[in-house]
Amino acid sequence: MKGVVTINNQTATLNPTEALTLEKPSAKDGSAMWELVNKSSLDQNSAYKYIMMCEYFAETCVVAKEDDQVVGFVTAFIPPERQDVVFVWQIGVDSSQRGKGLASKILNELIERDACRDVRYLEATVTPSNEASQALFKKFAREHDTTCEVSECFPEELFPSDEHEAELSFLIGPFDK
Ligand SMILES: CC(C)(COP(=O)(O)OP(=O)(O)OC[C@H]1O[C@@H](n2cnc3c(N)ncnc32)[C@H](O)[C@@H]1OP(=O)(O)O)[C@@H](O)C(=O)NCCC(=O)NCCS
Repeated sequence: MKGVVTINNQTATLNPTEALTLEKPSAKDGSAMWELVNKSSLDQNSAYKYIMMCEYFAETCVVAKEDDQVVGFVTAFIPPERQDVVFVWQIGVDSSQRGKGLASKILNELIERDACRDVRYLEATVTPSNEASQALFKKFAREHDTTCEVSECFPEELFPSDEHEAELSFLIGPFDK
């Protein structure tokens, strides 16, 4: 079967051998997202948190599936006091799918959603050692012909143990859609 990605009911070729879809998640996707995180370097949260995000923030979350299996996702929300910002809480891609542009497609799907019609900035926090994540967000800024402002956000001292790096804020925008 020829591989396609479905975005907002439109299809485009993503990979010649695989069929991928980008969808709004439902609560049933939460545990698979949690399992994907379990296998990655992302902060592990409770399964409840993913199920809750899928249920109450589906409009600003995207799940990528290959043959009905979750292979990537973003969980995000629009802060109530900053309606022009979408804050990316976590983005993850299964190791089998990395380096193919999937995370970039997931971010573009997110900002094209109706729920993001007033959004002009994308914000995320990234640890200094996470080169893949930094490359992803800088590429997003480049592709949208805008800037990526990096600043201190959550210093190490805020975290309860010594095992968490500081989190830097990556604020990308403004961008047009
Ligand atoms: C970060 C992550 C989501 C990127 O997913 P992906 O689908 O491989 O990303 P893309 O293919 O869209 O790549 C986007 C850009 O990042 C770059 N990139 C991806 N992985 C990279 C790596 N390990 N090192 C350096 N650059 C990397 C790509 O080369 C591309 O930039 P370019 O086109 O200028 O070369 C994925 O590596 C992942 O799930 N990591 C573990 C979880 C995590 O750290 N999430 C982010 C914190 S919230």
